[in-house]
Amino acid sequence: MQFTDLKSQYAALKPSIDARIQAVLEHGQYIMGPEVQELETALAAFTGSAHCITVASGTEALLIALMALDLRPGDEVITTPFTFAATAEMIVLAGGKPVFVDVESDTANIDASLIEARITARCKAIMPVSLYGQVADMAAINAIAARHGLAVIEDAAQSFGALYRGRRSCALSTFGATSFFPSKPLGCYGDGGALFTDDAVLAQAAREIRVHGQSSRYHHTRLGVGGRLDTLQAAVLLAKLERFDWELEQRAAIGARYEQLLQDVPGMDVTRIAVRPDRISVYAQYTVRVERRAEVQQALKAAGVPTAVHYPLPLHRQPAYAAHCCPDCCPHSQRLADSVLSLPMSADLTAADQNLVVHALRRALR
Ligand SMILES: Cc1ncc(COP(=O)(O)O)c(C=O)c1O
Repeated sequence: MQFTDLKSQYAALKPSIDARIQAVLEHGQYIMGPEVQELETALAAFTGSAHCITVASGTEALLIALMALDLRPGDEVITTPFTFAATAEMIVLAGGKPVFVDVESDTANIDASLIEARITARCKAIMPVSLYGQVADMAAINAIAARHGLAVIEDAAQSFGALYRGRRSCALSTFGATSFFPSKPLGCYGDGGALFTDDAVLAQAAREIRVHGQSSRYHHTRLGVGGRLDTLQAAVLLAKLERFDWELEQRAAIGARYEQLLQDVPGMDVTRIAVRPDRISVYAQYTVRVERRAEVQQALKAAGVPTAVHYPLPLHRQPAYAAHCCPDCCPHSQRLADSVLSLPMSADLTAADQNLVVHALRRALR
């Protein structure tokens, strides 16, 4: 069993993916070829955003968004410590200071009720993370941002395709930034990412920053980065979009089946990550909480079930970021980091394999 089954996906889409790649090899426009624009148009329509700017990775998407918002040295950005490092890393690299706010203990997403108390005169933006494929409480976060004149960047690296009150992740705030890392809900065959916004001025800034700050060829109007998405990756993503709606349905069904199989089983001490009723998660990860995690993980491995821990140490406890938070400021993040365990998840996970996972988990927890 694979943790993320990309082989079955390729087998199902092989004719389209191969044809799309072949077309790029034949036209030879490897940088900013026609597939890049085609993909941006398709993704903007899919999310309901006015503008999509594809970029080299999810990390690059975050950096470009912060640069487009003109983050200045010392500016603060409120975010969560219970995330992949890139979230805070890009704030620091852009010259800013991450201000860590704890997460909700049941959803593992930033606790919007704690944000307002941490806003200072230096605060420029809020960067919630839509963790495990579930959108953070964007209505509450946007309302706070509007009261204080702040931008909101949704780190949607894990939530492309997710719904919040009927609207798509990435199209819910000033910027949405996603990742097309191969194992993400929509993944390419290397690194890739995209930014989404309804603001034409910010979209233009992001487009220029993506190509070394050029407003036209060799006219460097602003500081930028080398942040383009390869045409070949755009071609792969276009092929993968063909069955993406089906994959989203599968992910929702597999997530619901895990929920049902893991529901209050006597003697099985598992806590599920809550999904709020106004949201549909894409389950980038299907994550539970268990006691004695190392032991459970070992037992699952012995039973042939691969697992992963997202993430074992919250950022405020990491040497690179510890200066930005006191060690005990985010207790829910710490408790989650000690107990979370992600189970195999992908649109092609079979019911038989899912039964095997749950059976092995039951035995491990006995
Ligand atoms: C929450 C989060 N933010 C940012 C990133 C960075 O994305 P990428 O790997 O495409 O640079 C990831 C990727 O794992 C992520 O999970």
